[in-house]
Amino acid sequence: MSYFADKQPLVADIFSRYPASPQGRRSALMPLLREVQNAFGYVSETHAAEIASLCGTTATEVRSVMSFYSTYHTVPTGKYHLQVCSTLMCALAGSDELWDHLVSTLDVQPGEVTGDGRFSVQKVECLGSCGTAPVVQIGDEGYYENVTRAKCDRLIKAMRADIPPPPDNPVPVTVREDGRQMTAKGERVGASIHDLAPLTGSEA
Ligand code: FES
Repeated sequence: MSYFADKQPLVADIFSRYPASPQGRRSALMPLLREVQNAFGYVSETHAAEIASLCGTTATEVRSVMSFYSTYHTVPTGKYHLQVCSTLMCALAGSDELWDHLVSTLDVQPGEVTGDGRFSVQKVECLGSCGTAPVVQIGDEGYYENVTRAKCDRLIKAMRADIPPPPDNPVPVTVREDGRQMTAKGERVGASIHDLAPLTGSEA
């Protein structure tokens, strides 16, 4: 089923952030994926094919891009998608044991969702917070740091009651609807294509 058929203004807005060229169209792949993922929690084969068509590329390339980022999912996730960092510093700090504790407590494996639809789990690569290992991220929210088994149990209990505590650290940079990045404090970072002055004839 088409997702973007009745969202032409949104599609046009996303494409307007990139150069009007075949390469620019392909660059819109990531925000289009994000739109679908935000709506459904994952990107189905049908929607991957639709995005490929919009971007002038193949579903295989869309899947290839998705496979590079753990943030994109090809199967449905639970209401709370728990991502346990499994890279060296977190492993040294006990993330393997934490993972075993988590999957046995929830009785769920990667690619599955618990019967109540509440939980899914995933091992991810370094979340960039090695100094606070082991680190767990829930959905697209921030990081829960120095997660012991006891802290993990408290988090699960709170999520079962749908009152998870705020993360220890919010995700530092988000992307606004107009494509600009900003910090959790609302400060702009990086540049947007809208900031660039058009090239003059001599510079082009
Ligand atoms: S190794 Fe886990 S945050 Fe870097």
